[in-house]
Amino acid sequence: MSAGRRTKRALVLALPWVAVGLLAGAAEIRPTRDYLSPELRGAQDDPSRHPGWLWVEEGESQWRAGGRSCQSCHGDIGSMAGVAARYPAVAADGALLNLEGRIERCRTANQGEAAFGYESEALLSLTAAIALRSRGMPVAVATEGPAAPFLEEGRRFYETRQGQLNLACGQCHDDNAGRHLRGDVISNGLGTGYPAYRLDWNTLGSLHRRLRACSLGVRAEQLALGSPEYLALELFLASRARGQPIEAPGLRR
Ligand code: HEC
Ligand code: HEC
Repeated sequence: MSAGRRTKRALVLALPWVAVGLLAGAAEIRPTRDYLSPELRGAQDDPSRHPGWLWVEEGESQWRAGGRSCQSCHGDIGSMAGVAARYPAVAADGALLNLEGRIERCRTANQGEAAFGYESEALLSLTAAIALRSRGMPVAVATEGPAAPFLEEGRRFYETRQGQLNLACGQCHDDNAGRHLRGDVISNGLGTGYPAYRLDWNTLGSLHRRLRACSLGVRAEQLALGSPEYLALELFLASRARGQPIEAPGLRR
């Protein structure tokens, strides 16, 4: 038996639905909330049943905190409406920044304080509170001009088979969306619900934390939170999600 056939055989044994999915037609992108159980979807919409709101409230007080507060320059946090829908975006100096990265820039360059750090409570809280101001708004990232090379890099990452399972992202999130895998319903793998409160984590977490879980799931290398690879991938995910509503802060099992 050829190596190729052996690999295929192993894959079929490990994940029978993947083989079926390879034959499936072109992917249709649906809002992530459509894939949630009715219970989770209901709680995602209900602040009194959504633990992520503790982070939102913390982020709102963080917004007003300190001498040179975010508020002192930006005014009410309501001024952040629509901002999350435009990130990741390329900054004037050519760096690709996601919302977390943009906040960290203001933290260091404009507030003159030490960076919060990726996955810190303060950064997750501010990100959640700011993203909430775009809830329901359609994703509208820029993908042309300076963003184009990053988009291509992200697309390559998305389309490359990875890890011991030798699977590309789309083999699950395009070809097998709607199917069950280890108790989850596979969604289209959009970033629109992040940061999200995941019951399994028992806390709020960033999109990059979730991406690390998918990398681990296919036994591929887990990249650092905020790494250039995950940033480019985040931009590509946002381009796939264009027109889909922001759901952050999401609620996940
Ligand atoms: C000293 C004034 C100042 C402070 C303090 C400040 N910012 Fe900013 N912020 C700016 C300016 C100016 C810009 C626009 C910069 C640019 O576009 O390059 C900006 C941009 C942003 C953006 C991107 C907005 C967009 O439309 O793309 C976000 C998000 C943001 N700030 C969040 C924060 C947060 C959160 C804090 C507090 C931790 C903060 N800022 C503190 C001045 C400030
Ligand atoms: C073996 C199948 C599989 C592969 C391959 C895979 N994922 Fe996932 N992914 C899942 C499952 C299962 C979940 C949890 C259910 C869901 O939300 O889709 C998930 C969740 C996600 C989510 C969170 C969705 C949400 O709203 O909570 C994102 C984003 C994501 N994946 C992106 C990726 C990317 C990017 C890749 C490629 C690097 C990838 N995934 C590879 C199975 C996979």
